[in-house]
Amino acid sequence: MQTIRELEALGPALAELRGRGIALRGQGATVALVPTMGALHAGHMALIEEAGRRADRVVATIFVNPLQFAAGEDLDRYPRREAEDAAMLAAGGCDLVWMPTATQLYPRGFATNVSVAGISERWDGAARPGHFDGVATVVLKLLIATMPEVALFGEKDFQQLAVIRQLVRDLGLPVAVVGVPIVRDADGLALSSRNAYLSADERRRAVALPQALEEARAAIRTGHEPVATILAAARARLVAAGFERIDYVALVDAATLEPIDTLDREARLAAAASLGKTRLIDNIAL
Ligand code: PAF
Repeated sequence: MQTIRELEALGPALAELRGRGIALRGQGATVALVPTMGALHAGHMALIEEAGRRADRVVATIFVNPLQFAAGEDLDRYPRREAEDAAMLAAGGCDLVWMPTATQLYPRGFATNVSVAGISERWDGAARPGHFDGVATVVLKLLIATMPEVALFGEKDFQQLAVIRQLVRDLGLPVAVVGVPIVRDADGLALSSRNAYLSADERRRAVALPQALEEARAAIRTGHEPVATILAAARARLVAAGFERIDYVALVDAATLEPIDTLDREARLAAAASLGKTRLIDNIAL
């Protein structure tokens, strides 16, 4: 696996990977991109594995994107484990990892903000103003720099996936966006780089999040109670487990992310809540 840091080195490395110049796109090897912020876990490795099934070459990026963190969030303490990440990527069959610096992606004078209206605004967008602009801006830059045929994102960040799909559709970008199912610990907690922040006690309590979603899903499927009552019970379950700030527990249309109160289409049950200083998100399909 090759590791690239300089933007200038990326083009030649990609050209070599494809077997021909990137100008001859489509005639060389196909490339799948897995953008990450590092601190990799089995969820990321599932993306790399799926990328390997979908394209000839797998490119990953590791970049803790300052634009998607609001002031006071965890940008400074976000886990950074470059050497371990590189070893995991190499073992997982990644061909090239690009680890740009912030100045390469956002040089002095950088003034562009990519904003996907509507779908960015609810849920995590409301709880973390500006977050999805930061995500859309960096993802667009990463896609332009690497020109992959396929780009893969985890379904844990379900709204992020929807925002990126909309971005790609609106701009007509020639890339297929693929969502990869959530990977969970044995007790059901969705893997996340932020789980590392949890104390042992918080980690034990955190399992209430997937459990509350599972229970709500079962109740919604049974159809005996109004959805609003079921969602209120899920919130109460989280409060009882020690979650302090509950940003949302919602049943949403899987495509538009609009809240729904009857199960008459493909839906997603999603929640975001904080245990101590750690904000966790999760979602399941209905
Ligand atoms: O999901 C993430 O890790 C990040 O939001 C992403 C897509 C790499 C953009 O920084």
